[in-house]
Amino acid sequence: MEEMITFPKDFWWGSAWSAEQAEGRGNTGKAETVWEHWFKEEPNRFYNRIDSSVTTDHINHYKEDIQLMKETGHNSFRLSISWARMFPDGGTGKVNPKAVEFYRNLLTEMNKNGIKPFVNLYHFDMPFALQEKGGWESREVVDAYVNYATTCFKELGDLVYHWFTFNEPLGPILGSYLEGFHYPALVDFKRGAQAAFYTILAHALAIQSFKELQLNSKIGVILNLSPTYPRSQQPADIKAAEIVDALYTRSFLDPMVKGTFPEKLVEILKEYDQMPIYEAADLTVIEQNTAQILGLNYYEPRRVKARLTAINPEGPFLPEWFYENYDMPGKRMNIYRGWEIYEKGIYDLCIDIRDNYGNIEAFISENGMGVADEERFMNDKGQVIDDYRIDYIKDHLAYVHKAISEGCNIKGYHLWTFIDCWSWINAYKNRYGLVSLNLENQKRTIKKSGEFYKEMSRNNGFVYDTHRLV
Ligand code: BG6
Repeated sequence: MEEMITFPKDFWWGSAWSAEQAEGRGNTGKAETVWEHWFKEEPNRFYNRIDSSVTTDHINHYKEDIQLMKETGHNSFRLSISWARMFPDGGTGKVNPKAVEFYRNLLTEMNKNGIKPFVNLYHFDMPFALQEKGGWESREVVDAYVNYATTCFKELGDLVYHWFTFNEPLGPILGSYLEGFHYPALVDFKRGAQAAFYTILAHALAIQSFKELQLNSKIGVILNLSPTYPRSQQPADIKAAEIVDALYTRSFLDPMVKGTFPEKLVEILKEYDQMPIYEAADLTVIEQNTAQILGLNYYEPRRVKARLTAINPEGPFLPEWFYENYDMPGKRMNIYRGWEIYEKGIYDLCIDIRDNYGNIEAFISENGMGVADEERFMNDKGQVIDDYRIDYIKDHLAYVHKAISEGCNIKGYHLWTFIDCWSWINAYKNRYGLVSLNLENQKRTIKKSGEFYKEMSRNNGFVYDTHRLV
């Protein structure tokens, strides 16, 4: 039966993107980031050899883009600040007045237009000079990050609605130290564990500094979280799922939200000699400075099974020593991105946060569908008719609504993304936006999903066949 699904009053409707993926280099001055450096070194790693120098050129289009936010029903929007732009001398030294001016203008314009700025401090874009000092493996870089964060709080704090220390801190660990999709594409679990620990410490120290400044906003973190489902209820499959859950989900969620580390994770790291170096005082800082708000990025579930084969003990230590991915027959796929589509996962995630993380104030900070060659779906006016994206949004939101009706403290939904943006090594392979971008002339055109989004935001909900929920 079709019925109107209505969300709580003042629900945050919006979307998200990040500095490196949308701003473009501009002419404010900016240090080289790891992405810019990697492209120079190995352009073949990037789809169609497209770098981040232009992207959506938001730095020169921000006023027009804010009008498009309004036209697509945004009442909130998440951007990230570019550390490299704020500190063009390699991420340290003197703050860049031109960067401060740009971000102040941007945030002022958003507020003037009724769009709450959600501001993230770090979205994969390490200044290269700091990467040379060890990146997140280095304590000196942690100090530089805290200085950068504190500067942002002081320079921009009056204009920001909510702050976030990191977006998906697991991403750079997997990408840089295990799976090769971030610079410097190493395979070294122990160094990854060190970088993860210092990322967690940096999060806590930034929150400590934020609290000292007594700003009128909250600070939290944005995590990519996937519920882990075992192939079966056989003990070996369940054990595999528990380890995967500890490694990929609880590893950042527990320390950043609860201030503690999951026992299972610590047990494994000790057993396999993968523990990071830290000081006792670090654990106190982490315990005392946890997130005040939590962003949930959800794209796909994790399905795992027990390994079929023995591991090679001489090979490098890897998470895959404990599990194999389970390719479940009949699962629905986004074939372009290679990610499973499983809407109920977003509900299971919300329930986990309600039951195991004190029902902390949270919101869906990313969810979305990247599709290749969207020109195929353009009508003769050049508008992308993306009904698949509208269905994707509705199907996920219906489960978010169910979670809210069962007491989950979910305050909003931000889609990935607003205008098609540059996707790291995938560059422009898959498009995610509510608005399409013509790469040749920077022309922006609202997609059908953008029109739907506006309606949904205006009505604070949409009509849905609730029988589709399981
Ligand atoms: C999230 C990131 O993991 O997913 C974004 O926060 C990213 O930066 C988005 O662009 C989509 O993933 P991808 O790899 O297709 O760009």
